[in-house]
Amino acid sequence: MDIRMVRGLMAGAAAASLLAGCVVEGEDAYAEDWPGIVSLQVIQGRNTLHTCGGTMIAPQWLLTAAHCVDQARIEGTGKAAQFERGEDGMVYRLGPLRVAANRTSLSEDEDTSTYAVTEVHVHPDYVSGAYERGSDIALLKIEPGYDGPLMPVEGLGPAPAELVDDTYLDVAGYGNMAETDDITGALNAGGRAIYAPSLRLQQASVPVVDTETCRAMLDEMIALHGIEADYGDYQLGEGTVCAGLGGPDACYGDSGGPMVTRDTAYDPVQVGLVSWGLGCGRDDSPGVYTRVSAYAGWIEDTVGPLGAES
Ligand code: ARG
Repeated sequence: MDIRMVRGLMAGAAAASLLAGCVVEGEDAYAEDWPGIVSLQVIQGRNTLHTCGGTMIAPQWLLTAAHCVDQARIEGTGKAAQFERGEDGMVYRLGPLRVAANRTSLSEDEDTSTYAVTEVHVHPDYVSGAYERGSDIALLKIEPGYDGPLMPVEGLGPAPAELVDDTYLDVAGYGNMAETDDITGALNAGGRAIYAPSLRLQQASVPVVDTETCRAMLDEMIALHGIEADYGDYQLGEGTVCAGLGGPDACYGDSGGPMVTRDTAYDPVQVGLVSWGLGCGRDDSPGVYTRVSAYAGWIEDTVGPLGAES
């Protein structure tokens, strides 16, 4: 199991580069502006590989995309490991899952502490391997010890935001900076090799695209590229938000990471998480995000009332 397998994991079920979707045409970001931002990682011997984004929303809970963890399971140690189904249909163990939080740079930040995952909750409506059908959301419980900042979530404390066409939302991650991009590696402060599409956190602003316009654009892309077999059943609605019209976009490796709205003090509220897209940054091909507030009830049922924790 090499890095290529993990790249496959980041892209989700689709293999060809166009099919599924760092941040493209973004800029350097600072972890302080993204409280609780997470890099989900798989440990393979001496190597650590970034696979997806996420956000700490309670001291022991993080939000990510279902397609990032639907092959993860808890082993006899009580900790989660990541698995992947290979092209031969066999399931391979990639390695233990780890959570690194609040890193501006995955290689240069002094803090090398990471947390093991002790519970994996994939949304019950998620169809394994089919993020385009929606409910692409999961919660992970981590071992105790995290006392860093938490990301406020729309509908869980902060009121739901009104998203209209052309509202700009910010997205961040350690994913690809171009549709075809290589994974880069470096030694981190702990002397271990760390690999990610972008070791430096990136961010971009993307305009909301209303569902009808988004559907028309995706239909056209799907027809143009003849990918009905993979994407014919995609679902948009209350559980999703589309954003981006070409140029700035999320990309492979950003999945699970936050999309936020900001108030006048620049404080974020998470409204979405990166789910999928057709390519990255292509004209008339919006990115699709899971609308977090649509799953507020499920989040509270799983995590407990967020405001109640001290
Ligand atoms: N599915 C991708 C991942 O696993 C994220 C795709 C986002 N693509 C986009 N064009 N917005 O990292």
